[in-house]
Amino acid sequence: MQPIKVRAEVADDYRAIDVVNLSAFEGEAEAQLVDELRKSDGFIPDLSLVAELNGRVVGHVVLSRVKLKTSQGNSEILALGPMSVVPSQSHRGIGSELIEAAIARAKPLCYAAIAVAGYPEYYQRFGFKPAKDWGLSCNLPIPDDALTAMELKDGVFSGGGEVEYPEMFKALF
Ligand SMILES: CC(C)(COP(=O)(O)OP(=O)(O)OC[C@H]1O[C@@H](n2cnc3c(N)ncnc32)[C@H](O)[C@@H]1OP(=O)(O)O)[C@@H](O)C(=O)NCCC(=O)NCCS
Repeated sequence: MQPIKVRAEVADDYRAIDVVNLSAFEGEAEAQLVDELRKSDGFIPDLSLVAELNGRVVGHVVLSRVKLKTSQGNSEILALGPMSVVPSQSHRGIGSELIEAAIARAKPLCYAAIAVAGYPEYYQRFGFKPAKDWGLSCNLPIPDDALTAMELKDGVFSGGGEVEYPEMFKALF
């Protein structure tokens, strides 16, 4: 396989990212969420990444700011997702490259943690841990097991807490 290039999205990619999301997911909710995220306060252009294969966009991941509510107060962490790879190119490691690139780019931006809702076994490959082990939950209607998270600053989850996703994420469920 040709090398995968992971880079931050630019406006010219929006249409291709839409196609990736529409092909990877069953409905339009994820594609619409990505559009809405771009217009929201939590959007970080450098953390909306595309995977290119032979000059075509074949995958996308976005990390955005969400609130972490703890007994010590509120702070901001990152939420990973939606993430998608076109079905014709899945199971070839493109998703893994996107996740690893996203983590590597998030670290120097000094966010304290990343949370992700969905496929816990998959994300644990990259160092995410079950959120419930810290007493961490979220406001999405998902099973406790489905939330995983990664501390980028040691101890950020030591008191547990709740990840508060913006309302727009609830359209996925
Ligand atoms: C999930 C997804 C992004 C993975 O991308 P990818 O390029 O295939 O990922 P990789 O090649 O790095 O890893 C593949 C692994 O992902 C995991 N995986 C893929 N789809 C999965 C699913 N539906 N449930 C659980 N794990 C899944 C498997 O462990 C798989 O391992 P395998 O290839 O040995 O079977 C891609 O399959 C996809 O776009 N799926 C549809 C959209 C989606 O569900 N996105 C994630 C939720 S936001």
